[in-house]
Amino acid sequence: MLPPGFCSAVYSILLTGPVTAQLPLSLQNLVVENVAIGECASRPSVSTQGPAIPSNSNRPVCFFTPPNRTVCFRGIETKRFQAGGKFNLTRWLILCDWPLKTFDPLILSRLVPRIERLALTGRVLQRLAHDFPALPYLRMVNITGTRLNYTSVSAFYELERLQVLNLRGNELEQIQPYRFRSGHVEVYLQGNLWNCTNDMIWLLKEQSRQYVDKPTLVCKDWKYTGRPVLTAMEYKRVVRESCLHEEIWNCSCHVSYLRLSDNGLSFHPMIMVNCSDRGFYQLPQYLPGNTTVLHIARNKLQSVDSLTTNEHYQSVQDIYLDENRITTIDILEDTIWLDNFRILSLRGNRLNRIRVYSVEHAIERNPGVGKLYLSNNPWRCGCRFAIRFQRFLRKHESLVADSRNITCYFINDDDGRKQYLPVLTVTPNDICRPSEHNTAAFYNTLSIIFATLIVLIFTKLAYDYYHYRKYGKLPWLIMKMP
Ligand SMILES: *[C@@H]1O[C@H](CO)[C@@H](O)[C@H](O)[C@H]1NC(C)=O
Ligand SMILES: *[C@@H]1O[C@H](CO)[C@@H](O)[C@H](O)[C@H]1NC(C)=O
Ligand SMILES: *[C@@H]1O[C@H](CO)[C@@H](O)[C@H](O)[C@H]1NC(C)=O
Ligand SMILES: *[C@@H]1O[C@H](CO)[C@@H](O)[C@H](O)[C@H]1NC(C)=O
Ligand SMILES: *[C@@H]1O[C@H](CO)[C@@H](O)[C@H](O)[C@H]1NC(C)=O
Ligand SMILES: *[C@@H]1O[C@H](CO)[C@@H](O)[C@H](O)[C@H]1NC(C)=O
Ligand SMILES: *[C@@H]1O[C@H](CO)[C@@H](O)[C@H](O)[C@H]1NC(C)=O
Ligand SMILES: *[C@@H]1O[C@H](CO)[C@@H](O)[C@H](O)[C@H]1NC(C)=O
Ligand SMILES: *[C@@H]1O[C@H](CO)[C@@H](O)[C@H](O)[C@H]1NC(C)=O
Repeated sequence: MLPPGFCSAVYSILLTGPVTAQLPLSLQNLVVENVAIGECASRPSVSTQGPAIPSNSNRPVCFFTPPNRTVCFRGIETKRFQAGGKFNLTRWLILCDWPLKTFDPLILSRLVPRIERLALTGRVLQRLAHDFPALPYLRMVNITGTRLNYTSVSAFYELERLQVLNLRGNELEQIQPYRFRSGHVEVYLQGNLWNCTNDMIWLLKEQSRQYVDKPTLVCKDWKYTGRPVLTAMEYKRVVRESCLHEEIWNCSCHVSYLRLSDNGLSFHPMIMVNCSDRGFYQLPQYLPGNTTVLHIARNKLQSVDSLTTNEHYQSVQDIYLDENRITTIDILEDTIWLDNFRILSLRGNRLNRIRVYSVEHAIERNPGVGKLYLSNNPWRCGCRFAIRFQRFLRKHESLVADSRNITCYFINDDDGRKQYLPVLTVTPNDICRPSEHNTAAFYNTLSIIFATLIVLIFTKLAYDYYHYRKYGKLPWLIMKMP
């Protein structure tokens, strides 16, 4: 006979460690254990009810425990299907180490028409071949510890007496709410590979109360890994709602990351809003809270004023403003925004100059600065600006990611055409007019003359002083003075 403890199916999920209400799940010691079924673990080698199993046998074998329990290992032999035999008394069917990639629930209606509880495990199983057929007594379905990664929403619909559906420890990534004919079903889902990049916002709804362990579900995809599924979905819901705001109705919004706060007790969402190609004439006056990245390329923006004046832009760290009509960013000078941004992309705008010193100072104050893109703008090769700009680009070549592609232009005196030069390599000879050269040369000469004069005057003074002390004679000039 099988040991008496054998009867109580052991099937436990342990929440170990101190589980406090405030800690996010990712920091709790959340362990999903023992998805294996007790009957499957304590496999007897000799049984009065069945044949002796050689330990290396791969053949299916079943044990019938009167009055109504059946435990099968490695599948069910097909000859059983004809025989009926002991299977027709089975109320509890436990299938251990299911050997196939699929399991077909349709076999149950012929084999075990009076089944009340089904348990199924095995690391080979990936799919259910069909939805469950009507099995009028089936109350409990446990499919656990398998590699099941998909279930249809109607898989359990025909089970009108269903009370417990346990799908813990499988490889489900996403599910839609199951359709149930039965009035009240408790569903267990912990320990699956939930991909929170996908939409499971429905789990937040009141009607989803029957998904009884939903607060313990944890995301396993790279973006949200370790985050509680409900937390991820709650942020998704909020972002989706705020994205409907009329200012940005045509944009798309995503949670791009949930960062763990410094005290480790909560999450900070980072939101990405994409308003590229939406025909904006100005920056939207509204953004979802905690927007950190804004893509607004290929619109018709002319100014970036809102970056400094609109509070919604306080949290925006990365902004992509490429291919707009922006003519100046001087308004950003000495602003908090410029001291805190991470990425500022202004390719393909109408900038012809910037205040190099103020941008440079801001960058040097900004510890998080990442990239600046400035190419494809009609920068003017003015002598002083171009030289300053060049010095700035050379000093910050890794920061200005497209510095090699930045050109400036001047109007060629001979034919009046625009001539473009790479700013990194222009020389004063290329861009500074001869008159500017001459003026510079004039001032240079002048300062040399003054410097020489000063040296001469001091020398004369020293000489006169020496002469006076030695001979007591005042210099000739003093004698002539009245
Ligand atoms: C199955 O067997 C158990 C005892 O092991 C018993 O309590 C239960 O009533 C039986 N179920 C049916 C439907 O006979
Ligand atoms: C089960 O099958 C046996 C014969 O194989 C039959 O005698 C018995 O009446 C069947 N019992 C039920 C509940 O169908
Ligand atoms: C099926 O899962 C339920 C819910 O976790 C559990 O109470 C029950 O013992 C399991 N049954 C079997 C046969 O493993
Ligand atoms: C489930 O896994 C199988 C095998 O790894 C794969 O071919 C299939 O695409 C997966 N299905 C889903 C819905 O992820
Ligand atoms: C999660 O889903 C996203 C979008 O459907 C997909 O791109 C990504 O590869 C998935 N991640 C994992 C780990 O399955
Ligand atoms: C930003 O996220 C934090 C949570 O990290 C939240 O407390 C705050 O209200 C959010 N800000 C806005 C404007 O939604
Ligand atoms: C933003 O949306 C545009 C247009 O829908 C698309 O072409 C672009 O790839 C999106 N950008 C990002 C970063 O998602
Ligand atoms: C809204 O965006 C779509 C592309 O996502 C674009 O085809 C459509 O013209 C836009 N509508 C307006 C009014 O900007
Ligand atoms: C520079 O311009 C070339 C040609 O337009 C382009 O292929 C390259 O990606 C640009 N480099 C950067 C860093 O923008």
